[in-house]
Amino acid sequence: MAAQPLIAPSILSADFTRLGQQIAEAEQAGADWIHIDVMDGHFVPPITMGQVVVAACRKATDLPLDVHLMVENPDGMLQSFADAGADHIHVHVEASPDIENSLKAIQKLGCKAGLALNPDTPASAVQAVLHLADVLLVMSVHPGYAGQAFIHQVLPKISQLRSALDGNGSHALIEIDGGVDATTLPLALEAGGQVFVAASAVYRHPQGVAAGMQALRSASLQVIKR
Ligand code: DX5
Ligand code: ZN
Repeated sequence: MAAQPLIAPSILSADFTRLGQQIAEAEQAGADWIHIDVMDGHFVPPITMGQVVVAACRKATDLPLDVHLMVENPDGMLQSFADAGADHIHVHVEASPDIENSLKAIQKLGCKAGLALNPDTPASAVQAVLHLADVLLVMSVHPGYAGQAFIHQVLPKISQLRSALDGNGSHALIEIDGGVDATTLPLALEAGGQVFVAASAVYRHPQGVAAGMQALRSASLQVIKR
């Protein structure tokens, strides 16, 4: 039986007027990590949140803070995100001029190094640096916005990356980000995903955060029990 999948609610769809409470609700409902989507207005059109918000989240929870940098040239800001309290820092292979250097720099700061790939980026683009990643963040939507539909074409890539990691003897986790809900989570889990990011499915669930978390958890357990 595979290890129980991890769920990482993304605060991108939380109510920012009561962010601390929204994080506490997710934590009480069994969240494993808190995912924070940092967007710079260049790599992706929106500007969302930065170090100040990461520091506020750090005060609100002891859960690992999973910081997803959707920013061009991330190297100059790695230190400040680590100082703000990030536990994991993801950098995009499409946005870093020297991805090997970025991943090593994150580890030197004492954080887990996350290697993020856009839906159109093939597994071959990260093959050479897989051994430097602690987590692979496989985007299943084009980055920039919550609430988009899961792109099913990424499923074979998840399996390819799983085999590549196993072949390398790597224990890196595969994290799936975008369009994850109770229907798509099982597909990504079967393909080899282990951590699931969800903004809308948690923070926009019609019955609230606890119900959203519960729906994802039961969907994942059904696959595991099979
Ligand atoms: C998209 C972000 C995702 C987003 C997911 O650019 O990286 O983390 O918050 O949102 P949902 O779960 O609504 O697709
Ligand atoms: Zn994200």
